[in-house]
Amino acid sequence: VEDDTPQARAVGSEDVSGFYDTVADDYHLAVHQRDWSEVVEEQGERLQAILGTRLAKPPPWRVLDCSCGIGTQAIGLALRDHHVVGTDLSPGAVERARREAALFGVASTFAVADMCRLHLEVEGKFDAVISCGNSLAHLGGNELAAALESISSKLVPNGVALVSIRDYDALGETRPRVPSLPQVHDSPAGRRVIFQIWDWEPDGRSYSMTWIFLREDEGGFGASHVTTRLHAHRRAELAKAAESVGFVAPEWHLAHEEPCFDPVLTALWL
Ligand SMILES: C[S@@+](CC[C@H](N)C(=O)[O-])C[C@H]1O[C@@H](n2cnc3c(N)ncnc32)[C@H](O)[C@@H]1O
Repeated sequence: VEDDTPQARAVGSEDVSGFYDTVADDYHLAVHQRDWSEVVEEQGERLQAILGTRLAKPPPWRVLDCSCGIGTQAIGLALRDHHVVGTDLSPGAVERARREAALFGVASTFAVADMCRLHLEVEGKFDAVISCGNSLAHLGGNELAAALESISSKLVPNGVALVSIRDYDALGETRPRVPSLPQVHDSPAGRRVIFQIWDWEPDGRSYSMTWIFLREDEGGFGASHVTTRLHAHRRAELAKAAESVGFVAPEWHLAHEEPCFDPVLTALWL
């Protein structure tokens, strides 16, 4: 009998949506070292500050988060009274984002959409379109251009695109196998351990990312894993890709303070 659970389908596959469906319930445990609701607040504060340096009109803004995941940035911005629509390729992530938004008490709407096809799948225009938390690393060169073009189609004149991505200028050189410490969580059923393994191509341009889950029960620890492929876009390449679809004045916002944020790129759409 074939096991058709999301987890079984996604194991070892490059199906991005399956990967995020599988990890939707655990995402807040796997990615962030701290309490996820604190991260939501911090992301909202930081993104609002960056957008404020680039948008001429005063807040509140209409914001499309086109790779919202479970809502980390969408909810953070909605808590600051922006009108946020969140979309993502993963139905499981979108469903969790809806649940989280209700728990946070914000009225954002969420839907499934491919960020390369926003012109076909999302209605309306926005002051800002954001794609944060390394989502663009899921896209290869041609898909990256398609996503940036699709993002531009959803912006009003003088709108802003904002993306955040891991620091691949550094990581592509050092090519870590285990990028962060394992996370250990206590639950009534026993301990749960989550960590990542990155297997790099020799050229440092891409890697497969495997999340390993260890779950403790009476018999010991059971393991499961999911894998997907990521592209280590360098900052100069991303800025150039944005300019080649018509964005102007790309700017990098790098944070050196704690908590450490991923580099953020903004670019204007005239
Ligand atoms: C690392 S998660 C980041 C999610 C969220 N922004 C955060 O920081 O918590 C990457 C997200 O990108 C989404 N994604 C990948 N490719 C996509 C595409 N083509 N269209 C829309 N979403 C996509 C995935 O489903 C996943 O939810």
